[in-house]
Amino acid sequence: MNNFSFQNPTKLIMGKGMIAQLSQEIPADKKVMITFGGGSVKKNGVYDQVKQALSQHQIVEFWGIEPNPAIETLRKAIELGKQEKVDFLLAVGGGSVIDGTKLISAGLLYEGDAWDLVKKGQAHDTVPLGTVLTLPATGSEMNNGAVISCHETKEKYAFYANYPVFSILDPEVTFSLPAHQVACGISDTFVHVLEQYLTKTGESRIMDRWAEGILQTLVEIAPKIRENQHDYQLMADFMMAATMGLNGFIAMGVSQDWSTHMIGHELTALCGLTHGHTLAIVMPGTMDVLRKEKGAKIMQLGERIFGVVAGTHDMRIDETIRKTEEFFRSLGLTTSLSEEGIGMDVIDEIEKRFNERGVHFGEDGLVDGATAKAILTRVL
Ligand code: NZQ
Ligand code: ZN
Repeated sequence: MNNFSFQNPTKLIMGKGMIAQLSQEIPADKKVMITFGGGSVKKNGVYDQVKQALSQHQIVEFWGIEPNPAIETLRKAIELGKQEKVDFLLAVGGGSVIDGTKLISAGLLYEGDAWDLVKKGQAHDTVPLGTVLTLPATGSEMNNGAVISCHETKEKYAFYANYPVFSILDPEVTFSLPAHQVACGISDTFVHVLEQYLTKTGESRIMDRWAEGILQTLVEIAPKIRENQHDYQLMADFMMAATMGLNGFIAMGVSQDWSTHMIGHELTALCGLTHGHTLAIVMPGTMDVLRKEKGAKIMQLGERIFGVVAGTHDMRIDETIRKTEEFFRSLGLTTSLSEEGIGMDVIDEIEKRFNERGVHFGEDGLVDGATAKAILTRVL
């Protein structure tokens, strides 16, 4: 186990009807800016619950944070927040609304253009932020990361700022999710765990088992959720899987990869593919191209999650990659670029971008432009 320090300050508030707790979690003297996406919360009753809970608070609303939140939109929110002198933020939505609001919380205390903060990769001074999560996927409700896009340049970068002070997770709010978003949320959660697991063996038994617990739960509940998305217990487990998958718990003392994510972000930035879907396409390619380096852990994944125990070393790795891809397809997602009309021109552009940026992603720093190209060509 590697050395680490761990602290996660987010208060998790879980369960049916818990949105009503908002009134106690946000101090009465705060001026709150509530941020929303495109309007799903008006159709599923979440907006009414939030307004009801905060009926005694001073409130400003900001609407229109889009999937893959764009700096162009967030600049407007920062301007409004400064004008209104808000001193608390409440994000009501999925990862995009929460991520966008993390940038707003830093932008409110920054004099310059908020894109500077994204390029810098981090911000320390922030306005406190709470969340009401409506889509289990990103873990943004209990981590300090955010991913911000720029439409003008077709770029998408991660940036690190503040953990939410609290996050409210009511599984009932997920009943209205479109099936494709559920599929992408499960895929995103699955790959978050793989990025912190599919690296080296023997670093930590406890982290391995925690990670495997999340993976196994997802494999078990995914087909049941496809049958009935209105099952409270299933959606509660999905929500907890997503939160626990990227809140730092399974990362303690172990190596992390994240190269699949970095390639996936480029596919979203260039082609508009939904985040979780990009990962379902890229992950089998990463496993195959890095099969030598990741081989021992791929074998462990195969044995413990998919029951792959027969055959030679290479056969077991092939079968585990096949099972992983089959899991993504069982969610209703495609797993090749050509199925999405994406060709070599995009692969070449990603290779070029990675070369220009001089990146070396992955636990061993092996994923540069050439390796990214090999991974994407494998899943063409
Ligand atoms: O905008 P509205 O109308 O609310 O609709 C949204 C949106 O169209 C809809 N939706 C959300 N909750 C719903 C609902 N529709 C019906 N019922 C509900 N309960 O779903 C659509 C997608 O929402 P979005 O927030 O974009 O999805 P997600 O939560 O998957 O977030 C994706 C973003 O998070 C980033 C991704 O890159 C992407 O930009 N990530 C953030 C991470 C982090 N902060 O740690 C890590 C992840 O790896 C990821 O990169
Ligand atoms: Zn992700």
